[in-house]
Amino acid sequence: MKPTPQEPRLPTRDEYYDLENRLEWTPKYVSEEELFPVDMTGVPNLPIDVWAELYDAPYKVTYREYVKNQKEKDQKVFSVRDAGIRAELVKKLDSTYHQGAFCFHITAVPIPEYTAAIAEIRMARFAKAGEWRNLATFGSMDEVRHAQLQILLSHDNVTVNPKFAFAHKMFWTDGWLPIAARSFFDDTITGTTAIEFALLTTFAFETGFTNLQFIAYAAMANKANDFVFSTATQSIQTDESRHAQIGHPVLKTFTDVTKLSEELQKKV
Ligand SMILES: [Fe+2]
Ligand SMILES: [Fe+2]
Repeated sequence: MKPTPQEPRLPTRDEYYDLENRLEWTPKYVSEEELFPVDMTGVPNLPIDVWAELYDAPYKVTYREYVKNQKEKDQKVFSVRDAGIRAELVKKLDSTYHQGAFCFHITAVPIPEYTAAIAEIRMARFAKAGEWRNLATFGSMDEVRHAQLQILLSHDNVTVNPKFAFAHKMFWTDGWLPIAARSFFDDTITGTTAIEFALLTTFAFETGFTNLQFIAYAAMANKANDFVFSTATQSIQTDESRHAQIGHPVLKTFTDVTKLSEELQKKV
């Protein structure tokens, strides 16, 4: 009997995810060390095969899903912002909230967000696992969105108080806070290898600080009737919680490798 030919079928979403994220190439003209210099990738310098095998992110999103989600988030934020401008919301907010906590956040955060975009792009090029590079590509687009959105919201407030212009100015002044912040962000973001940034910023700082700050700020803005900032902050926080998880599998890869080498040593 003739075998019935199998109907060709498209891969399922999960099959496609693995195909997309585990796709690697074999370099012929350069060595692995030249393709991923240790000064950019970081230490410990594990082989690419180990990363490809062990790096497994908890938050799995395809490019198509990412674009759809981000488009919906931006549509929501920009329609709420339009409503806020029409209602002259900034003139009606409590001045302690508006000139205090809100002003501090919206002027201090945009430039670090932009530096985070640079470091995410560094991981998108020099991280040694495909899934890590793809998630970092989304992360860099997230951070550009956060920088631009928060500079725009600062600009909406400049007519009420000129100190909102510090969203642009702050990191080019020599106050004690900008000096300390520049030094901190140079160490943890702009001057890091892919591995250092994944551990220092995405694993430690974004999990322990950014996510908590954005959730608290969204709640506070809501209480102060600032529905524009509350919506914007929620839309940013949901990005942060996704790319904050880039660093967890980096740490897990190191512990898995350590466990494996200890087991091997016991057998020898
Ligand atoms: Fe961000
Ligand atoms: Fe971030």
